Amino acid sequence: MSKRTIVTLPGDGIGRIVLNESIRILDAAGFKADYIEANIGWEFWVREGNPLPPQTIGLLEQYKTGLFGAITSKPKEEAAAELSNECQDKGFVYSSPIVGLRQHFNLDICIRPCHTYKGNPLNFIRKGKHGEIEEPVIDVVVFRQNTEGLYSGVEWTDPPDKVYEALLTHPKFVRNFAFTPKAELSVSARIFTKRATERIIRAAFNYAKKYNYSSVTVCEKPNVIRETSGLMFRLAKEIQKNEFPGIELWNTNIDAQMMWLTKNPEDYGVIVAGNMFGDIVSDGFAGLIGGLGFACSANIGEEVAVFEPTHGSAPKYASFPVSIVNPVAMIESACMMLDHLNEQMIASSIRKAIAAVIAEGRVKTYDMLKMKGEPDVIKKGAASTSDMTDAIIDKLKT
Ligand code: NAI
Ligand code: MG
Repeated sequence: MSKRTIVTLPGDGIGRIVLNESIRILDAAGFKADYIEANIGWEFWVREGNPLPPQTIGLLEQYKTGLFGAITSKPKEEAAAELSNECQDKGFVYSSPIVGLRQHFNLDICIRPCHTYKGNPLNFIRKGKHGEIEEPVIDVVVFRQNTEGLYSGVEWTDPPDKVYEALLTHPKFVRNFAFTPKAELSVSARIFTKRATERIIRAAFNYAKKYNYSSVTVCEKPNVIRETSGLMFRLAKEIQKNEFPGIELWNTNIDAQMMWLTKNPEDYGVIVAGNMFGDIVSDGFAGLIGGLGFACSANIGEEVAVFEPTHGSAPKYASFPVSIVNPVAMIESACMMLDHLNEQMIASSIRKAIAAVIAEGRVKTYDMLKMKGEPDVIKKGAASTSDMTDAIIDKLKT
């Protein structure tokens, strides 16, 4: 196996802690790589007025693969107040470096798998027909369009005249909003392009084909949001018919999908959605398989790919003398990186080791014990972050 270079982006808070644990696992599993650390996050905003420094962009441009912990983000005013003295009054405006990365490298395909580990005490359970307890096995992979839609940042409060004039060309705008003063209007544009929508749909179907899922579900709202959700559903029908006739195409509305989430989550396979609905539905499924300690993700563009847990920097936990957070979400994200680099054998050995630790049930982090996250959870029997990693490494050896 040739040696790779991975750009590590620890970020803030527990980001660095869980990232280091994932590298311990990658080493133990035999993945050969050089790791180059790149700056990202709050510290660099405060010090340099830029949470995503140009050197970081340069390293990702060069090496193409990033492994990312988590960052701290704060609202605009707070961000401005925390800037160092040297950076004050220089016109720096805070914006999320994650969104920045996704947009700069056009990391348009976000993949969020949610699968049940047997024995995880956080698994969703429900009552069956006769009052019996059922624990459905969930194996869902959400494909979320990552760069467009409501998160594209094309928005205004008190829109400029040209935008306002354009809005006035729409009869529904005239009927419903023309009486509101312009200064009292906030508008966020939901833009879908055909190209990006086709890319996310094809990525979802290709994944379903490769990993033998029988269905792809479009989870949008085409009956109401006719242009954008409608485009996604229409293109999905064409692509399914012409390129993937062996895979079923299902259609659910995001609201109904969230309501039925707990009724039949085991029926879904691959799900595809726009940016916001993909964010919502993936969090919904993640809640059924253990929540933030288990939710991993990949952001994949045509050239660059960045892998990260869904959780944030959990600042409160970062200063505990012994870290208590669950490293599994980060380790699973590293497995997604291995899949992307065609190292499926190593990824599969790590996933099996995680499954073995969870099935055995001897080592559990505080979240798996449903404890409140306090430093004393270790005394009460919870595994520390590194205990969990060690247990997984032990299983890798067997
Ligand atoms: P968070 O995900 O950092 O933490 C929320 C809660 O989830 C924690 O208090 C903890 O109880 C639990 N949690 C998180 N990670 C866990 C883990 N690995 N194991 C066990 N439990 C875990 O979200 P929060 O508190 O809303 O935000 C904290 C900071 O992180 C904010 O500045 C926010 O902007 C940022 N953030 C960054 C993200 C990223 O880097 N991708 C995503 C979400 C939030
Ligand atoms: Mg989210």
